[in-house]
Formats: sequence, C-alpha cells, structure tokens
Amino acid sequence: MKLITEVNNPLVMDRITRLRDTRTAGREFRQFVKEITILMATAATRNLPVTDVEVETPLEVTTSGKLITEPGPCIISIMRAGNIMAETLRDLISEASIGFIGLARQAVTLEIDDYYTNLPNDIEDRYCIVVDPMLATGNSLCVALKKLIDAGVSQITVVNILACPEGIERITSEYPDVDIVVAKIDEALNEKGYILPGLGDAGDRVYGTDDH
Ligand code: URA
Repeated sequence: MKLITEVNNPLVMDRITRLRDTRTAGREFRQFVKEITILMATAATRNLPVTDVEVETPLEVTTSGKLITEPGPCIISIMRAGNIMAETLRDLISEASIGFIGLARQAVTLEIDDYYTNLPNDIEDRYCIVVDPMLATGNSLCVALKKLIDAGVSQITVVNILACPEGIERITSEYPDVDIVVAKIDEALNEKGYILPGLGDAGDRVYGTDDH
C-alpha cells in the first residue's frame, strides 16, 4: 500500500479552521482553498517525474533536475469542487494540462451521476494528480480512478483537503497503488455522506449555491 500523507501543519490547520466556520463565504472561502492547495503542493507533486538537464549558472555549468514536460503532468479536477484546486496547482506547474471528470452525488442514495469527462488524448503517458476537496464515501473518487486506470494511467496522486477514515479505507483497499495526500483526516462520515466535523458541501460553499 502507498503512503497516505497528512499535511496538517499550522498554516494548513489555520486555513481549515476558517473553511469550517459557517461565517466564511465567497471570495474568502475560495482564497483559503487556494492557499491550502499551495501549501499542499510540495507533498502533492513529490512523485512527478524529473530529468537532469545541463544548465549554465553565472559560475559554472551543472546538471539539475527539471520536470518532464513531454508530456507534462495532468491535473484532474473532479467537478465541480475540484476546479479551484486544479487551477491553483496549474499555476504552479505551467507544463500541466487539466482534465475534467464531472460527477454529481445524488443527495439521498449517494449514487454518482457521471455526467462529463474530458481528458487529454495521451493521458496514459501522463502522471495524474486528482484533486477533490473532500474524500467522503469514496464513491466519486472510485469512479474517477476507474476511468483513469481504464484509460491506461498508471501513476496517480490524489489530493484532498479533508478526508474521513471510511473514504480512505475504501480507496486504499480498492486502489492500493494510488498515493493520497490530504490536508487533514477528519473524524467520521455521517449517515448523509458528509464528513464530520467537515466544512459542509465544498462545491456549494465555493460557488455560493444552496445545499441541495
Ligand atoms: N462532499 C462535500 O462537499 N462535503 C462532505 O462533507 C462530503 C462530500
């Protein structure tokens, strides 16, 4: 089984506390999601493939690591809540492409409505970083991971802001080769499929829509 990394440092915790707060909304909420994503980026990108290149410094010629860009990594946003994390990570990895997997969770059954997929044609040659703020039941993530693996992808890191033990257990048992980086592992999943204490519905809070 691959490592699960909980980033959970003081800056990350500070932003998570602000996201949890019901009074945090709009631009502020989005800003904290972006900041957490930046703070998680070191862990999220640690397995990206690099190659040594020759570079001339003002003092001498040396070899130094550079990201492999042909093709570059692909950041996969699980829509819609993952979009803001994907855009933020891409600002740090200009060679990356963004792929989209649109999945909506039915409120009562928690079944997944798989409504949209748009991935680069050469996805099987790319390192994939899958972003979704919440790993709850793991239902959406399992659908997304199956799509990627069926498309031939072999190297995947998943990045979540909050995860619960139930979701982690599901992913690590079904997809043991996937690397998982989370900002914070929360306590539990409630009967409606929400993470406790959590932050509510991440998509609704990012986009200012009603909980439905
Ligand atoms: N998705 C969310 O947005 N929040 C949760 O708590 C669980 C799933």
